[in-house]
Amino acid sequence: MVIKDNDLKNAVEKLKIENIKMEHISKIGEGSWHNVYRIESNIEEDLVLRIRKKKAYGQLQAYKEIDLITEYESSKVYYNQANQCSFPICPSFFDYFQEESLVFTVESFMGKGKILQYLSDSEAFKIGEVLGEFFKVMHRKDPEIQGFGNIIWNGKNLEGKKQQEVNYIWQNENDFYLSILNSLTTSDLTFNREKVVNKLLNLIENRRENQQKISLVNQDVTPENIILNLDNVSIIDPFPKLDFDLKYAGYFVFCYKFLLPAYSNAPRYRKHAYNKNSNILSRIADGFMKGYISDNVNLYKCLLDEYILWTLLEAHEHYEILNESELNPKTLQQMGDKDMIMNRLTLCLNELENLSLDNSFTFFNN
Ligand SMILES: Nc1ncnc2c1ncn2[C@@H]1O[C@H](COP(=O)(O)OP(=O)(O)O)[C@@H](O)[C@H]1O
Ligand SMILES: [Mg+2]
Repeated sequence: MVIKDNDLKNAVEKLKIENIKMEHISKIGEGSWHNVYRIESNIEEDLVLRIRKKKAYGQLQAYKEIDLITEYESSKVYYNQANQCSFPICPSFFDYFQEESLVFTVESFMGKGKILQYLSDSEAFKIGEVLGEFFKVMHRKDPEIQGFGNIIWNGKNLEGKKQQEVNYIWQNENDFYLSILNSLTTSDLTFNREKVVNKLLNLIENRRENQQKISLVNQDVTPENIILNLDNVSIIDPFPKLDFDLKYAGYFVFCYKFLLPAYSNAPRYRKHAYNKNSNILSRIADGFMKGYISDNVNLYKCLLDEYILWTLLEAHEHYEILNESELNPKTLQQMGDKDMIMNRLTLCLNELENLSLDNSFTFFNN
């Protein structure tokens, strides 16, 4: 194959790998931000070259050096910490190159995953279990980066955007959930207010007393960023943040049980047809819970509470966006048009109502 792509040629030159031939390079994937190539080697491990796209979500992306350093240094730290927890769940090699005309990363090739519809129920469950066990250990580890929240590069190191006392952050977060609950209950939306409010007030009262641990969490755990292969389940392209441990375990389950199927009509996700594979996604989430909570009933209840709070947050985000006069192109791509957003808001409110019923404890078991 003759490679015509100039960026690819330039990147390969910059890599300075000896004896590399273009026929050893093949395109293996593409996300919203990178075109991805595998470089095969007879001597060393295979590598992956991720060339940053100039356009994302239909818009030209300005070159922002600090943002790129932040993104790639955080991936490096995440990969490193993850591999200390379970080797080799992430690429053991990672590096990046950036100048205005060309930005790329190189990392270990982690193998080829199966596509969702080819996973059997039991494979999906076991992959989820491996992930749950990994995230449990990862969340228990004290992060090297100090602070809380989004990670930023301060010119020398990475740090969390917020440098406040943990209990202060924790109580503020609980207050925030109450404030968005209030904005939904005082809106003109139709849902069973009494049930939902009762459930959430109790939940928050209990949550305040059970402060969680700050961990290095991954905000992007979609199947596109996981190599779904039981022999070597791997996590790639993380979007790390410093945030609470159980909250993000709940996020994984929320993603696989609810979010991915619910977003499958949005242009950004349509091609993945997550709604058609919702059973498989749900099995991955079941396995994850088994791996993460290992039959600890109290932990299970707390995880379910976090799931409910993610549903509340999602409902509120949808409600806020519907109040905007016009949707920006990124929102249109990621969430769909106003009708889709309204329908998804209804789904979120139904889910909230169901989870607020007295027997919601059995929610995941049926
Ligand atoms: N290290 C890797 N090993 C194997 N496959 C990879 C690796 N990195 C990326 N890929 C493949 O390329 C696809 C897109 O890569 P990704 O890094 O997620 O791009 P983006 O940053 O645009 O989301 C992935 O879904 C995966 O199939
Ligand atoms: Mg990706």
